[in-house]
Amino acid sequence: MCGILGYVGLDNAVDVVHKGLEKLEYRGYDSVGIAYQQNMKVVIQKEKGRVIDLAPLLKNKNSNIAIGHTRWATHGEPNKLNAHPHCSNTNRFIIVHNGIIENYQKLKVEYLSGYDFISQTDTEIIVNLVELFSLTMSINEAIRKTMSLLEGSYACLILDKKNLNCIYFFKDKSPLLLGIGKNGITLSSDITGLVGYAEQYVALEDKTFGIAYANRFYFYDIIGLKLEPNIKSVQVSSSEIDKKTFTHYMLKEIHEQPLMIRSILQKYFIGDEVNIPLKLINKMRKCDKINIVACGTSMYAGMMAKYYFEKLCSIPTEVFCASELIYSTPLISKRPFFIFYSQSGETADVLAVMKKMKKQKFPMLCITNNTESSMGRLTDFCLDIYAGKEIAVASTKAYTAMIVVSSILARAVSGVRTNLKSNLKGVSLAMEKVLNNKEICLGIAKDIVNEKDVFYIGRGMDYWVCLEGALKLKEISYIHTEAFPSGELKHGPIALIHKDTPVIAIITQEGTNRITRSNLTETISRGAKGFVISSKGLSLPEDTFIIPNVAHYLSPLVSAIVIQLIAFYTALLKNNDIDKPKNLAKCVTVE
Ligand code: AGP
Ligand code: GLU
Repeated sequence: MCGILGYVGLDNAVDVVHKGLEKLEYRGYDSVGIAYQQNMKVVIQKEKGRVIDLAPLLKNKNSNIAIGHTRWATHGEPNKLNAHPHCSNTNRFIIVHNGIIENYQKLKVEYLSGYDFISQTDTEIIVNLVELFSLTMSINEAIRKTMSLLEGSYACLILDKKNLNCIYFFKDKSPLLLGIGKNGITLSSDITGLVGYAEQYVALEDKTFGIAYANRFYFYDIIGLKLEPNIKSVQVSSSEIDKKTFTHYMLKEIHEQPLMIRSILQKYFIGDEVNIPLKLINKMRKCDKINIVACGTSMYAGMMAKYYFEKLCSIPTEVFCASELIYSTPLISKRPFFIFYSQSGETADVLAVMKKMKKQKFPMLCITNNTESSMGRLTDFCLDIYAGKEIAVASTKAYTAMIVVSSILARAVSGVRTNLKSNLKGVSLAMEKVLNNKEICLGIAKDIVNEKDVFYIGRGMDYWVCLEGALKLKEISYIHTEAFPSGELKHGPIALIHKDTPVIAIITQEGTNRITRSNLTETISRGAKGFVISSKGLSLPEDTFIIPNVAHYLSPLVSAIVIQLIAFYTALLKNNDIDKPKNLAKCVTVE
């Protein structure tokens, strides 16, 4: 969570950091702050609001060096006082921090009894420990000593007022990249912050610290041994992070899905043959159970994957919520295989489980949109979902991309030749048709926008899309939304139905068409306002949105577009900040 950005070099660091923070804002947006050098002094500007709110304060400011932060508060409320950067007691050191220091109270008592703390953040402990140890050690040693005491997660940038030519950086668990450009060095929480200023980059390993100057940098491990950087080229272009003609990233990303499916097909098929590493396929064929681990939308994509692995490959598969699995140990089969789904590849809950399973040497695969992420680097096997950069906090195209890649993987593991490729092309066309009729979703949005509760119902894979539909609607419209297997309604939830409660049924599977309709009728009889999203072959003329037919096991990819658009338009009618919904952040790097 949170975005940190630093720059030292020939370009105007104030501009580089301010613009970079705008690109990182999706990671957290409770408050924002920047520190830069002016006449050998450090100026700090902070605001409770958004990155744009800093603009008037930074106008015509010039500096060779700056560090900045856009916050997702973990310790202390989101206000100006708690906004980063924070200073050490003598004001010598200035820090921005992403992560959580779990033992900060203990460290405060043990080491920093005479120190004053201005904010409620855990971050101030770090900068004051560096200051304390620097009284008797070199800065390098002081930082390493501090790192050895910290428990939790951190990516930090530090400025030293006595040496404003360099940025100190160190990290454990939270992501940090160092970008190498013609004019200087940029440090960023993710690759989008480097675009435009770096042609190459290094993804820092855990427990690394280093020093960046305008034209050089050094990496060390925690005991001070120099590390050789693994330099890669920056592949993301500015056009990928451009909103183009769309008003919102979310709308743009919803519209990108038909084309995205075609490009995934190009990556994973050579002619009609699936192009997936044989070593991975063989490993999966040998397992007796697949364990899928993920959070949120990625977990819901994992439910579809379970269906594919069980139906096509006959491998029992279970889906785990990562945050639950960290603190519980399920019964592990004799030959387990783990698949971690994560758009960002940085989700702390998923990463924690991954590390736990890695210790036990279980074979693992990560399916992600960020192969260079912490997860991508930790895993044995990694499959890119090729969704392209997803910026809106509400995930859309990553969800469908994960489902598509899972279907291709399952087909490869099963070894059975199917029409998957042409069926997926059919999905791409069907998605386009849904997008051409998006005003139907606007109509549904108008009908639900003023309601307090909304329910999605369905069975089987339709229910799994319902779960995603409910998550999407609640996270950006803030309307309380729940998804139920339609048969469960009568076991309790139907008590919540009152006059005009919207109930949206998804019906794309022949076997459950009739029964889901009956369940919907039961709610309508009790006053609900019913809506039906159905596949053409199963539709009734009065259904609300009739979506094109595709292979039955791929229909969730098409109904997904409908639920995404319903959420988008409802949030639009409420005038919400769609791309940056309240209380959320794109990249959840804290547990
Ligand atoms: C999706 O709309 C959510 N913002 C959220 O549930 C997300 O899917 C979840 O945090 C997992 O993220 P990941 O895919 O990056 O691991
Ligand atoms: N724990 C720090 C704070 O609450 C950093 C949070 C973040 O990663 O944004 O300020």
